[in-house]
Amino acid sequence: MATSQRKILVTSALPYANGPIHLGHMLEYIQTDIWSRYQKLRGHECHYICADDAHGTPIMLKAQQLGIAPEEMIAQVNKEHQQDFADFNVAFDNYHSTHSEENRVLASDIYIKLRDNGFIKSKSISQLFDPEKQMFLPDRFVKGTCPKCKSEDQYGDNCDACGATYSPTELIDPKSAVSGATPVMKDTEHFFFDLPAFEPMLKQWTRSGALQTEMANKLDEWFEQGLQQWDITRDAPYFGFEIPDAPGKFFYVWLDAPIGYMGSFKNLCDKRDDLNFDEFWAKDSTAEVYHFIGKDIVYFHSLFWPAMLHGAGYRQPNSVYAHGYVTVNGAKMSKSKGTFIKARTYLDHLDPEYLRYYYAAKLSSRIDDLDLNLEDFAQRVNSDLVGKLVNLASRTAGFITKRFDGKLTKVADESLIQTFLGKQEQIAEFYETREYGKAMREIMALADIANAYVADAAPWQLVKQEDQQEQAHQVCSNALNLFRILVTYLKPVLPRLAQDVEAFFQMPLTWEGLGQEMENHAIAPFKAMMQRVDLDKVNAMVDDSKDNLQATGEVKTGPLVDDPISDTINFDDFAKLDLRIARIVKAEHVPEADKLLKLQLDIGGETRQVFAGIKSAYAPEALEGKLTVMVANLAPRKMRFGMSEGMVLAAGPGGSELWILEPHEGAEPGMRVK
Ligand code: 2FM
Ligand code: ZN
Repeated sequence: MATSQRKILVTSALPYANGPIHLGHMLEYIQTDIWSRYQKLRGHECHYICADDAHGTPIMLKAQQLGIAPEEMIAQVNKEHQQDFADFNVAFDNYHSTHSEENRVLASDIYIKLRDNGFIKSKSISQLFDPEKQMFLPDRFVKGTCPKCKSEDQYGDNCDACGATYSPTELIDPKSAVSGATPVMKDTEHFFFDLPAFEPMLKQWTRSGALQTEMANKLDEWFEQGLQQWDITRDAPYFGFEIPDAPGKFFYVWLDAPIGYMGSFKNLCDKRDDLNFDEFWAKDSTAEVYHFIGKDIVYFHSLFWPAMLHGAGYRQPNSVYAHGYVTVNGAKMSKSKGTFIKARTYLDHLDPEYLRYYYAAKLSSRIDDLDLNLEDFAQRVNSDLVGKLVNLASRTAGFITKRFDGKLTKVADESLIQTFLGKQEQIAEFYETREYGKAMREIMALADIANAYVADAAPWQLVKQEDQQEQAHQVCSNALNLFRILVTYLKPVLPRLAQDVEAFFQMPLTWEGLGQEMENHAIAPFKAMMQRVDLDKVNAMVDDSKDNLQATGEVKTGPLVDDPISDTINFDDFAKLDLRIARIVKAEHVPEADKLLKLQLDIGGETRQVFAGIKSAYAPEALEGKLTVMVANLAPRKMRFGMSEGMVLAAGPGGSELWILEPHEGAEPGMRVK
């Protein structure tokens, strides 16, 4: 049974530092955390590493919109991300940032090695340039009319209407999404990474057998299409690392992002005497390295990343494991349906262990999408965790405490225990191969056996009979011991429950201890360990996630068509609106809200507090002193952050393109708008 100790480094993809963690992200962190906890439970040395992915144009522009330095924004987001993960019981050994000194040094070092080894080529290219913002525009920041189907307002890389892909220079009437200016073509010198030079090595790596079949097939497709030179350069202004010896040129975010895995590990090594960076990353390393990622970033992790490592003289990952997307109730997560659920919103309402279990129960080693069906979620958690698992202890522990001096006794018939212990290799194999769904089914099948045993033996009846006391003691001891084995098997998935169960048994739950003799073992009085999922709380979570403008006090940007039957209002409805000129006397960020600004509005002697969803378009200081129009007779709404006493009117498609109505300067606060 004894396996030799492995040295393992495992990572999850680094989340971007410009947005909150949501339940789609959580699938990957939970999947990786279970795997890492399983390895540790088996006594292996395993380090689970992550960081925020802090560079790139979207992050730079978002910080600009907020009117703060990118460093300030990414520090704030880093804190929020770490809190979300900690509250989901995701136990990283280190969480860092790609905007770190370790990463700067490693990225520069890898680049220089690649350059000195002849894998970097320089070439002059022509790109769209925003003359107003004085910046080159990434494809997603150019909009215009699709050259194929002529749909307006399409991104520079592909058309949402007809699906065509093209280069931004092909767009008809292109406009910069940053400033609205018409972009011009401009030449610039860029560095390219010579990916095609690594084709033989990558083919060999693909065939090493460590990759998922779907992934190996995808790679074959890419090899057939032919690998391309990869542009790793971005021109200033850019938030990232400047390329050595190339002032004004920066590494494209995707160059230094995966190096962030190393950067975060380096940061950990520097804090710990027992860890050596080279032992994990040197060419001849015998340690194991695994990356868990989503299916959308396979190209970066299975082509660019191993090639970069190889070209710079480092080892390659043992494998890259991709998972699918999360859908909620069978559809893409949607803000209007309230199924785009942030990690924090979930945590405001529900126990993180529920989601950990549900995801585990539905995960396999394949790249399939996973549906979080909220009814099934509640039903499965209630039936498996509360009904089958915790119930085993709650039905039997009280008798041990009250009648048998709080101590377990020896069980005459150990056949059930042997059945349970006999499954350990199979369950271990399922964890190791990321077949968590199969592991959960195996464990729940055992729970069914244990419950049938207790129902059959009916200790609640035995205890009532004088001559059956020993029998009752044995049944309850046996049930609790089976419960202990089950929770040990589930420990990687349910760390908080396992902790409570350790307190109850007054002993750590370990893999080696699975078969431990429990005769005379003293247990603590049983305390409730898990509540049933309350559907009202699930519904409240969905309501809180709705991009329901009334509920959040946000500005409505589309037409007022809430009533699907009739899209007109009568004159009386219109006359009810009390629209007033307001002066914004104060505007502040709401730290806990992504979209809201807190405004103090003067409407002529009276001050109103309003939460407005215009953070994506305005920095608070840009608003102070401005005149605008508000709905003054909207019933006040209590929000998480305080009362909102009205609404501000704005127009525009959303995001940074949102403008509050600004009356002519002669208007006075308090005037009615007619
Ligand atoms: O796709 C993403 O969300 C990226 N931020 C993932 C980066 S993973 C790694 F390469 F850094
Ligand atoms: Zn089109």
